[in-house]
Amino acid sequence: MKRITAILLAVLMVLSLAACAGETGTAGGAEPPQNSTAATQTPDETKVPSEMGNESQRPSETPDTAPDGAASEPRQEPTGSKILVAYFSATNNTEGVAQKLADGLGADLYEIVPEQPYTDEDLDYNSDCRANREQNDSTARPAISGTVDNMEQYDVVFLGYPIWWGEAPKIMSTFIESYDFSGKTIIPFCTSGSSRFGDSDSALRSAASGATWLDGHRFSAGASAEDVMAWADGLGIK
Ligand SMILES: Cc1cc2nc3c(=O)[nH]c(=O)nc-3n(C[C@H](O)[C@H](O)[C@H](O)COP(=O)(O)O)c2cc1C
Repeated sequence: MKRITAILLAVLMVLSLAACAGETGTAGGAEPPQNSTAATQTPDETKVPSEMGNESQRPSETPDTAPDGAASEPRQEPTGSKILVAYFSATNNTEGVAQKLADGLGADLYEIVPEQPYTDEDLDYNSDCRANREQNDSTARPAISGTVDNMEQYDVVFLGYPIWWGEAPKIMSTFIESYDFSGKTIIPFCTSGSSRFGDSDSALRSAASGATWLDGHRFSAGASAEDVMAWADGLGIK
C-alpha cells in the first residue's frame, strides 16, 4: 500500500511541475516586451509636419539607433525612401495635397519654409503686396529656412506650390537652384484658385535642366486622397 501511495505522490509531483512550467511559458510569450513601443516609434512620428518646421522632412522608416553621443547632434539620416515630396504652401492648400501624396506613396515630406513667413498682407494680391512684388522681379529669391541634407538619396522629387500669377512662387526658384537635380525625375504639382497648371514650372525647368521633368498637375484646394493618388498611381513611379 505504502508503495502505491509513494508512486501516486511521485506522479502527482511530476504533473504539477509540468503544469507550472507550461504557465510560465504562456505568460512570458503573451506579454509584450517592455520596450516594444520605444523600439518602434521615434518621437517625430507623433508630430504633424506643420508642427515640425524645418524638421518636417519626415523619415518614413527611421530606426532610432544613433550611436552613443550622436543624440545631441542634429540628425537627418537617410530614410531609405527614394521619393521626396517637397512643397511650399502659404495658406496650407498645397500642404494638404503634399501630405496626401507623401502618405499614399510612403515618401518623405519636406516643407519649403520661408525665412520670412508670408503674412496676410504679404499675400493680398489686390495690393502692391510682397508676393506680387516678388513675382514681378525675375531676380527675387526669397530665402528658405533649412535644407534637405540628404537630397542625393532621392531618385524622384515631387515639387508642390501654389500658382501665383500663373507661375510658381519665386521661393521655388530659390529651392530648385539650391540643389543638384541631375539624373533625378522631377514631378511638379500645384494648387490654384482656378488657373490650370500651364507652364507655371517653366522657370524651374530651365534651372534644373539636368533632371527629367514630367508633366505637372493642378489640384483644387480640397483635392481628396483618392484624386491625388489616382494621378500619382498613373505616373508609374512606384
Ligand atoms: C499672390 C497670389 C497670386 C495668385 N495668383 C493666382 C493665379 O494666377 N491663378 C489662380 O488660379 N490662383 C491664384 N492665386 C490663388 C492660389 O493659387 C490658391 O489659393 C492656392 O491654392 C494657394 O495655395 P497655398 O494655400 O498652398 O498657398 C494666387 C494667390 C496669391 C496669394
